[in-house]
Amino acid sequence: MRFLTGGESHGKGLTVIVDGFPAGIAVLAEAINNHLARRQLGYGRGPRMKIEKDTVSILSGVRHGLSTGAPITLWIENKDFPAWEGVMSPEPIESLPDSSAAKAATDSKSYSRPRPGHADLAGYWKYNHRDLRDVLERASARETAARVAAGALAQCLLTPLGIRIHSHVIQMGSFTGKAAQASKHNWQELQWQDFVAQSDANPLRSLWDSAETQEVIAYIDTVHKAGDTLGGRIEVLAIGVPPGLGSYTQWDKRLDGQLAQALISIHAVKNVTLGDGTSPVSTQGSQYQDAIDVNPDDLAITRRSNHAGGIEGGMSNGMPILLQLEMKPLSTLRVPLDSVNLETMAPEPGHFERSDVTAVPACGVVAEAMTAWVLANAVLEKFGADCWEDLFASWQHYHTRLKRGAAKQT
Ligand SMILES: Cc1cc2nc3c(=O)[nH]c(=O)nc-3n(C[C@H](O)[C@H](O)[C@H](O)COP(=O)(O)O)c2cc1C
Repeated sequence: MRFLTGGESHGKGLTVIVDGFPAGIAVLAEAINNHLARRQLGYGRGPRMKIEKDTVSILSGVRHGLSTGAPITLWIENKDFPAWEGVMSPEPIESLPDSSAAKAATDSKSYSRPRPGHADLAGYWKYNHRDLRDVLERASARETAARVAAGALAQCLLTPLGIRIHSHVIQMGSFTGKAAQASKHNWQELQWQDFVAQSDANPLRSLWDSAETQEVIAYIDTVHKAGDTLGGRIEVLAIGVPPGLGSYTQWDKRLDGQLAQALISIHAVKNVTLGDGTSPVSTQGSQYQDAIDVNPDDLAITRRSNHAGGIEGGMSNGMPILLQLEMKPLSTLRVPLDSVNLETMAPEPGHFERSDVTAVPACGVVAEAMTAWVLANAVLEKFGADCWEDLFASWQHYHTRLKRGAAKQT
């Protein structure tokens, strides 16, 4: 299964094409819209989130609520496109009905002062753009809406198998608070539902209590007033993942490598770690590795801890998968850093464009999507990718074999 996205930040909208999605899986626009709405939440977002409520149209590959096995095409309209129509038109400016207005608007939105921390400068060199808007429009994290839509499709496949994925913010700037990491839990269904409900209801998508939440909100406001931005840390959890997804047999089949690639490809994510937060560097082997226990009654195998974060030897090991991501403080600054005007080569401050103060809560939703995508692919590789019936039969057979494995030894 693969997906490609197209679309600019202020263009008409975003297109996602998902190829290789199995037939016979329930897919509803509503399920995708729920995730798109979650991406737009979170204290610290800029005005754009108030203008736009993302919704998806399913253009192909789904019929009467079920996937057909054909490529699935999704479309997310950019609601503020009318304000940018002339600036972003694919037609030559001279041929537009109101060409002088379009030219004036385009000139006012063009820029040549790269923003440190963005793709602007390297994109200018690489693609030979004069107007850095030609870099910004595609490099922008608006593209993450398309990823969330693709990830929501992956979740349509994972949810009926009992695989659940969720994230929460565990650090904002220098604030960690005392929120216990969710990863320490031994998950039961009710606990999971509480975790999801509690973190989604919090304006920071965190398990912080109300006093801590207010403290972080005040912190974000102070940073905003100073024209600055904040990064943070997110924990992503996946439960219900069977052992044996991924493989140790080739470097590119390792599940840990696939997850790290998918997650670090998210805009502004600079660090991805696997595990429950226990340092693999400063802990000795006897404390770091997760001892194996076997129940003498039913021969069920359990682990005494989950420092490894559910993956050993490039394969899932049946424990919850635990990942942490670090997002850098956002690059667009209301008080811009020093830069250069590439037209004149004179030193000048970087360009400013409306921007978030922090997008850590939203980044968690994008991280869930990318995690879902990688896990769904690993499921299809192990259990078959043509249709739900075959996939589920293979899934059940595997689980029966795992149980038989234990019974064989009695
Ligand atoms: C959900 C989300 C929203 C973002 N919003 C902004 C923003 O408003 N302003 C900004 O400067 N960067 C924002 N970013 C980060 C930039 O897109 C990112 O820093 C930029 O594309 C450069 O990529 P790099 O930081 O990975 O090198 C956002 C990232 C994500 C994941």
